[in-house]
Amino acid sequence: MSEPSTPRFVPLIDQRPAALQVPEAAFDPASAMQARGLVADARGRELRDMRISVTDRCNFRCSYCMPKEIFDKDYPYLPHASLLSFEEITRIARTFVAHGVQKIRLTGGEPLLRKNIEILIEQLAALRTPDGHPLDLTLTTNGSLLARKARALKDAGLQRVTVSLDGLDDAVFRSMNDVDFPVAEVLDGIQAAAEAGLGPIKINMVVKRGTNDHEIIRMARHFKGTGVVLRFIEYMDVGATNGWRMNDVLPSAEVIALLQREFSLVALEASAPGETAQRWGYADSLGNHDRTAGEIGVISSVTQAFCGDCNRARLSTEGRLYLCLFASQGYDLRTLLRNGSDDATLASAVGHIWSGRTDRYSEMRGAQAADTGSGARRVEMSYIGG
Ligand code: GTP
Ligand code: 5AD
Ligand code: SF4
Ligand code: SF4
Repeated sequence: MSEPSTPRFVPLIDQRPAALQVPEAAFDPASAMQARGLVADARGRELRDMRISVTDRCNFRCSYCMPKEIFDKDYPYLPHASLLSFEEITRIARTFVAHGVQKIRLTGGEPLLRKNIEILIEQLAALRTPDGHPLDLTLTTNGSLLARKARALKDAGLQRVTVSLDGLDDAVFRSMNDVDFPVAEVLDGIQAAAEAGLGPIKINMVVKRGTNDHEIIRMARHFKGTGVVLRFIEYMDVGATNGWRMNDVLPSAEVIALLQREFSLVALEASAPGETAQRWGYADSLGNHDRTAGEIGVISSVTQAFCGDCNRARLSTEGRLYLCLFASQGYDLRTLLRNGSDDATLASAVGHIWSGRTDRYSEMRGAQAADTGSGARRVEMSYIGG
């Protein structure tokens, strides 16, 4: 008989800092805030866009987001009881919509790993803005499960998807996702999303200098004229585990210069206030935008911060409200949901939190003040969503 093995204790320490408490003023009837379809923060930025993370897990291990060495089998992912239920998520989303949110993006981790996500989509698709419009309801995915799920997502009421894809070369793609996942399956997923009508489809390519920058032109050629909008994203210093270095960033200006060697591009107007991407259209022989050839975008959070009109709120998987992608702490809304607070209290809490917001991390990057408060560790993007 073999020796009983020594039990291995894995300390399940939650590395996330304590949640911020909702400001007391939110509960005082004298200063209660109602939802009136418009709330601005301390810098005058309106709340318009909400990103909801539905799981902190992912089946990929992209080194810029969930490096394998850290996100291993012992990583303390959230236990199931911590997760907001679909009803809880929808209740918070309804409050945000009453405050003026017009777009909801589901993220993760990988949102398609959350069981029965279609049910949540159905609930969110039924929400209406104060003037009666449906929301722009979208989802960011790594595409690995999209071929299987695209039709059901569309049927549930999802309007469009954004797929992360860092290269077309199978070896480059497998090494970037670090779980040896083949690129062909993601391309099948994109095809299935297009066939299901989940468009306009956007592709997010995080560019790392020396890792996948040689894929830029090939990606552009592949998606030109397909109706798919390809966006090149500067590798960001988000989270605390990806070992970010400025040398690994390929500035968007260089991406555009590279593309202009092969394609003729014209700058396009932003399609919505607070947009993350600068848009460029493929030009025709007269130098006008050729709509059949389509457009690309660059997202330059490192070299050209876009905090000035940032209208994005982020809800973590366990119901914390983060006011910036680079924040280290979020406000605990889950307690309000679970202690019997009524809708008016929830609305007042969200209104007070947003109106006190001053965050502008990317603009302050590099400066001493960029430290997001008390030197605390920044939240991981896989936890808060992209
Ligand atoms: P569309 O409405 O489809 O254009 O979406 P979007 O560009 O608002 O959202 P998406 O999640 O596709 O954003 C693309 C990438 O931009 C993300 O993966 C991040 O890398 C980056 N990003 C998004 N929001 C922010 C933000 O608020 N701050 C910073 N610094 N980067 C952001
Ligand atoms: N820099 C830029 N974008 C990132 N993403 C994740 N980590 C980073 C990072 N370090 C974004 C990618 C991906 C989405 C899920 O999150 O755009 O498509
Ligand atoms: Fe997963 Fe997306 Fe993060 Fe890659 S970038 S590890 S696919 S959540
Ligand atoms: Fe908004 Fe923060 Fe990103 Fe600036 S760094 S755009 S404030 S989320």
